[in-house]
Amino acid sequence: MNLNILVLPGDGIGTEVTAEAVRVLEVVCQKWGHTLNLKDALLGGIAIHKTGTPFPAETEKLALEADAVLMGAVGLPEFDEWPPEKRPERGLLGIRKAMGVFANLRPVRSYKALLDSSPLKNHLVDGVDMIIVRELNGGIYYGTPRGIYTDGPEPRAVNTMAYTQSEIDRVTRMGFELARKRRKKLTSVDKSNVLETSQLWRRVVVEVAKDYPDVELDHLLVDNCAMQLVLNPKRFDVLVTENMFGDILSDEGAILAGSIGMLPSASIGAKKPNGAWTGLYEPVHGSAPDIAGQNKANPFGAIGSVAALLEYSFGLVEEAAAVNRATEAVLTSGRVTADLKPAGTPATTQQVGEAVCQAL
Ligand code: IPM
Ligand code: MG
Repeated sequence: MNLNILVLPGDGIGTEVTAEAVRVLEVVCQKWGHTLNLKDALLGGIAIHKTGTPFPAETEKLALEADAVLMGAVGLPEFDEWPPEKRPERGLLGIRKAMGVFANLRPVRSYKALLDSSPLKNHLVDGVDMIIVRELNGGIYYGTPRGIYTDGPEPRAVNTMAYTQSEIDRVTRMGFELARKRRKKLTSVDKSNVLETSQLWRRVVVEVAKDYPDVELDHLLVDNCAMQLVLNPKRFDVLVTENMFGDILSDEGAILAGSIGMLPSASIGAKKPNGAWTGLYEPVHGSAPDIAGQNKANPFGAIGSVAALLEYSFGLVEEAAAVNRATEAVLTSGRVTADLKPAGTPATTQQVGEAVCQAL
């Protein structure tokens, strides 16, 4: 098979973890006889430095041409005071929208070898296996009007959370389809006791559920969900929610996996004529400027994103499973980065990547 992949290392530790993820991808392609065509482009802070904009037109063109896009992370401290529309993060929002990837799948699972890395009690964490499906193209991240207005008696800021029925419908179906292939349980998360967007959300979810009578559906308010995630995380199978709730809950979910460095993600949307998802794959963590350039970052989120890329964009289920098995083997061997290893000598980013390649 031909794999045409665009790589967007981005900023901070994004470049380091992506390098290891690409190494893993190269080993997989070698071993299974696939042809890998890699291209590189700019996104985020580095793109601002080199071109003046966080999402250059060239990057957009290459992303739309590629079979799949592998991204690192965006964000640099020198842009902290910049307005949202000029910041590195806007590049990420831009590419998510341009690619039409409306469903962001964030699997959260516990690994036996990492039970002690989570601050939660082992018995709560052991056996956790869920997928957070985060709506990715709508909601308060994109709604207008937005802005900081200084023309009144005092500064005033506005953001808008907006959803259409079809935006809710398509991401809900994604959640149900996933649940169908798993433990057949979908939890929809909203704030329908306060927000109109959530009232529409719940109404649409209930309507879509009629097409999935085999899947058990429940609803949770987002504040309660935040509590249930640490109180009883094993109750969750697939969780579907709007953009900002999903952003927040998935960082909380990372605690269950031992470190946010463990979480991969797959952003998928429309299907191509060959039935494959066009996808953007990125670890859930950010650019972590405080540890950038030190060969310390945990590359498993990026490596897990390669597994997701193989599975969702190319249907290479066997290869994806092999990457996940190699990950487990390395975790069990204890070669992990400092975020997972409070005591003893941690492995470097490169050593972890190398170990996964060897295990493959
Ligand atoms: C994430 C990140 C991004 C988001 C940032 C970097 C814009 O936090 O992918 O979870 O908020 O979506
Ligand atoms: Mg986030």
